[in-house]
Amino acid sequence: TIPRVTLNNGVQIPQLGYGTYKLPPAETRDLVLRAFDAGYRHVDTAQMYRNEREVGLAVAASGLPRDEVFVTTKLNNAFHAHDDALAAFDRSLTELGLDFVDLFLIHWPLPAVGLYTQAWGALEEIYASGRARAIGVSNFQPSHLARVLETGTVVPAVNQVEVHPYLRQDEVRAFDAAHGIVTEAWSPLGRGTVLADPVVAVVASRHGVTPAQVVLRWHVQRGDVVFPKSATPSRIAQNADIFGFALDDDDMVAIDALHRDERTGSHPDTENRTGR
Ligand code: A2P
Repeated sequence: TIPRVTLNNGVQIPQLGYGTYKLPPAETRDLVLRAFDAGYRHVDTAQMYRNEREVGLAVAASGLPRDEVFVTTKLNNAFHAHDDALAAFDRSLTELGLDFVDLFLIHWPLPAVGLYTQAWGALEEIYASGRARAIGVSNFQPSHLARVLETGTVVPAVNQVEVHPYLRQDEVRAFDAAHGIVTEAWSPLGRGTVLADPVVAVVASRHGVTPAQVVLRWHVQRGDVVFPKSATPSRIAQNADIFGFALDDDDMVAIDALHRDERTGSHPDTENRTGR
C-alpha cells in the first residue's frame, strides 16, 4: 500500500498519485480505473486539463468509498478574480460529480495578472465551507508564496512544482519545508527525459528495477508527493510498485548530482496562459 504524508492541517495525502495531464479524454476514465486497480488512491487533475468529468466518472465507477480516494483539482488561470474563482470551483465540483475535493490549488501564480492573493482569499472561503479538505498552490516561487503568507490567513498545504533529477528545485523545496508546506512534484520523470540517463540506468540495474522506479523512489525518499503520468497500463502499475526497495545514500547522492536546472515546462514567472 502507498504511504501517506500528513499535511499542515492534519489531512493525510497518499504520497504517490496518478497524474492526468494530457491524457486523451476518451481514455481518461478507463486509465484512472486502471490506476485504482493498480493500487493508486490519489488522482491529480485540473480545470485546464479538461478531463475532470472523466476523472469523476472513474471515481464513481470504481465503487471505492469516497474517503478512500484523494482527488485534487486546480483553478484555471482565467479565474483568479475572487467571484470567478468561487464560480469556477463550483463548476469543478459539478464536473467531478463530487460534493467536496480533497485538495484545491491555484494552478499558476500569473504574477503579471497580479490577482493570486485575491484568488487565495477565495480558496480560503472554499476551505472554510468544507468543500475542499485542504488548499494549496502550484508553480509558486518563494516570492509568490511569501506574499500569500503575508496577506492570507491559511498557510498553503502544498506547492506543486516541476521537480525531477534534472530540476532539483532546492530553493523552492527549502522554502516550502521551512513553512510546513509539502512539495508535490509534477513531471517527476522529466517527461521521460531522465529515464535515459546512464547514472539512473546503473542504479536501476543494481536494484533490479526500472529507471522510472528509481526516479520515483528518489522523489519519495526526499519526502515529496509524486504524480507519474502514463497512458500505458503496464507502466501505470510499474510506477506504483516502488515501495519494496530502497535507494541507499550513495544512490541518492549520485542522482542528486544530475541536476542541471533543466525545465520541461513553463517557468512560473513567465507562464501567462489565460484561455478558458
Ligand atoms: P507513456 O504515457 O507512453 O507511458 P512525467 O510524468 O514526468 O510527465 O513523464 C511522463 C512520460 O513518461 C510519458 O511520456 C510516459 O509515457 C512516460 N513514462 C511514464 N512511466 C514510464 C515508465 N515506467 N517507463 C517509461 N516511460 C514512462
